[in-house]
Amino acid sequence: MHEIDLSGKVALVTGGSRGLGRAMVMGLAQAGADVIIASRRQESCQAVAEAVQRDTGRRALPVAAHTGQMNDLDRLIDTSYQAFGRVDVLINNAGINPAMGELSALPPELFQKMFDVNTKGPWYLASRLAPRMAQHGGGSIINVLSVGALKPSALQGFYASTKAALQALTRVMAAEWAGQGIRVNALAPGSYHSDLFDGSAAAIPGFEDGAKAASLQKRVAETEEIIGPVLYLASDLSAYTTGHTLVSDGGYMVL
Ligand SMILES: NC(=O)c1ccc[n+]([C@@H]2O[C@H](COP(=O)([O-])OP(=O)(O)OC[C@H]3O[C@@H](n4cnc5c(N)ncnc54)[C@H](OP(=O)(O)O)[C@@H]3O)[C@@H](O)[C@H]2O)c1
Repeated sequence: MHEIDLSGKVALVTGGSRGLGRAMVMGLAQAGADVIIASRRQESCQAVAEAVQRDTGRRALPVAAHTGQMNDLDRLIDTSYQAFGRVDVLINNAGINPAMGELSALPPELFQKMFDVNTKGPWYLASRLAPRMAQHGGGSIINVLSVGALKPSALQGFYASTKAALQALTRVMAAEWAGQGIRVNALAPGSYHSDLFDGSAAAIPGFEDGAKAASLQKRVAETEEIIGPVLYLASDLSAYTTGHTLVSDGGYMVL
């Protein structure tokens, strides 16, 4: 009863080609799910699909889709339903943080770009998918935030606010779709080694040491450590949990 078995389920992960998303894809497939891997680059998604098939034997569909482009997201949904006839789990994981800086120095066009990818795309994908999920009994949607959205600090203005807006949308989605059997939760990671984190660490002196110091565990996590929280929220283990934000951050404090 308490085993995680996602056999017969189909999970769609945006940003599934690298970093946390790739770990999520592998974890979901190891738990028995067929997977759809989306990111901007088809060849990167294809490489992960091949790894899924080789290592788990599950079916895997790679789809190039930019989460800031609504027509790409329409095509992603159509392609997914053509291939599998259902999507039971959506993980809105793709997110960007291309530049950090003081609010007075940040350009308006960057806010729009980050809002499109981090907030508008996840809303659009979830809201167009939800009616189809409802037709086959519901599902689980996970919106990936950042602990920075819950405890914003200096230089994170655009990133924190686009993710905080996604947390608000998570609550609205949960309220609007609960009656259709769709649970919607947010997952807020702390610091995990990935291209996103390691890029910031390389560009900003003291960034990694600061992240370690801000965690009670005094470390940066590996991507595989996100799999447990994802499987919990994706599966019936969390059947009575919706509208919640699950934090996985080693005990993050703002110093
Ligand atoms: N790593 C951390 O410490 C950390 C902490 C807090 C929150 N997060 C959040 O966790 C999520 C994953 O982060 P990560 O660290 O794994 O990032 P990452 O290593 O930079 O990977 C990002 C993934 O998203 C895809 N992607 C980027 N822009 C996209 C777009 N416009 N449309 C579609 N796909 C796009 C990338 O593939 P392509 O390049 O092929 O598009 C890649 O698969 C993000 O939402 C991030 O904000 C991460």
